[in-house]
Amino acid sequence: MNQVIPQTMTAAVLTGHGGFDKLELHHDWPVPRPQPGELLIKVTACGINNTDINTRIGWYNDAVSGDTTSGGVAGFSTVADGAAGGWGDQGIHFPRIQGADIVGTVVALGEGVADDWLGQRVLSDNWLRDWSEPMNREKCGYVGSECDGGFAQYVALPVTNVGRIQSAWSDAELATLSCAYTTAENMLERARVSSADTVLVTGASGGVGSALVQLVKRRGARVVALTSASKAESVLAIGADAVIRRGVDAWTAVLQNAFAMDNVTVIADVVGQPLFHDAMRVLARGGRYVTSGAIGGKKVDIDLSHLYLFDWELIGSTVTWPHVFPNLLRYVENNEIRPLLAATYPLEQIHDAQKAFLAKEHVGKLVVLLP
Ligand SMILES: NC(=O)c1ccc[n+]([C@@H]2O[C@H](COP(=O)([O-])OP(=O)(O)OC[C@H]3O[C@@H](n4cnc5c(N)ncnc54)[C@H](OP(=O)(O)O)[C@@H]3O)[C@@H](O)[C@H]2O)c1
Repeated sequence: MNQVIPQTMTAAVLTGHGGFDKLELHHDWPVPRPQPGELLIKVTACGINNTDINTRIGWYNDAVSGDTTSGGVAGFSTVADGAAGGWGDQGIHFPRIQGADIVGTVVALGEGVADDWLGQRVLSDNWLRDWSEPMNREKCGYVGSECDGGFAQYVALPVTNVGRIQSAWSDAELATLSCAYTTAENMLERARVSSADTVLVTGASGGVGSALVQLVKRRGARVVALTSASKAESVLAIGADAVIRRGVDAWTAVLQNAFAMDNVTVIADVVGQPLFHDAMRVLARGGRYVTSGAIGGKKVDIDLSHLYLFDWELIGSTVTWPHVFPNLLRYVENNEIRPLLAATYPLEQIHDAQKAFLAKEHVGKLVVLLP
C-alpha cells in the first residue's frame, strides 16, 4: 500500500545559469507525484558531480573557454540569459532540481509499476532513454538535467531508471556510484581495456579518476595515475600501480621504473587541456585516447599527422551502454570495488558542499544527505 506522502518538501532549486545565487533552498517545494511508469523515492543521499556545477554555470556552452573552477562560484558572463548551458542541445528548463547520484527507498508507485518495488532500496541509473532505441543518443536525457534529480527529499523517476541493491555499503557510500563509476566503466568499455593494457588515468583522485583506477585494476590491466603530489599516497592506496605527481615527476621515468616502458596503450582522461599535450606524448602506436571530461579546460590542439601516423584512436564517451549500470551493481554486491566517500553535507549546506567540491582537496566523492 502506498504511504502517506507530504504535499511539500525541502529542495535545492536551480533557477537559471549563473553563480550560487541561482541555487536556492526551498522548504515548501511541491512533492512530485509519480506518473505512469514512475516510482517515488524518499531520497536519503545524493552525490555531487561536476555536471551540477557545469550546468549551473553554463560551462557546456561553446562560448565558454574557461575551466570549471574559474567559473564555479560566479558563473560565466559569456553565457547569455536563455542560452543552452546544459550537457545536451535542448537547454535546461528552469526551475530544475539537480542531483544525479540518488539513493533512497521507494515510497509510492505510479500506474503500471509492479507492487514489489515498494519499500525497495534503490539507486538511480541516470540516463533517461527511449527504450525502443536505448543507444539513440539524440533521445537521451540525464537525471538532474532533463528531469528533476535528488537534491530534494523526494524524486519521481521512471522505473527503468533505478536499480535495486543489496549491499553493506551505507546510503552515502552508494551515492558515490552512479555518475562517476558508470562514466569510468563506460570509458573502459569504449576503449576496449583488457588485461593486456597499461592505462594512464588523469585526475586520479577525483570521482571518475578514482573509479577508473579501481575499474582498470578490476580488469587486470596496469594503471599509472596522474595526481597532485599531496594525494599520491591516497591514490596508490586505491590500487594504482604507479603515480605520476603532476608538476613534479618526469612521466617517462615513472613509466620506466614501474613497467620498463616509456609509453601507455590507453589514456583515460577527464582533465583535458593542461595535461593533453604531455599525455599524447606517452601514447603508444595504436593507442586509444578516451575522454569523458575536461575539468582543466576543453580546448586543445592536436597534430593530425601524429593521429594518423601513430594509428591512434580518439574516443568520446558520455551516454553509457545500458549494461554498464547493472554490471556495476554486481561489482558492488560482489565486493569487487569499494566506495571512496570523502565527506557528507546536509542539504542545507549545499553551497558549502559545492565550494569544497571546487577546492579539490578531497579524494573520492562528496555526498549530500537529505533530511
Ligand atoms: N561525460 C560524462 O558523462 C561525465 C561524467 C562524469 C564526469 N564528467 C566530467 O569529468 C571531469 C572529471 O569529473 P570528476 O567527477 O572526476 O571530477 P572531480 O571529482 O572534481 O575530480 C577532478 C580531478 O581532476 C584533477 N584536476 C582538476 N583540475 C585540474 C587541472 N586544472 N589540471 C590538472 N588536473 C586537474 C584533480 O585531480 P588530481 O588532484 O588527482 O590531479 C581533481 O581532483 C569533469 O569535467 C566532469 O564534468 C563527465
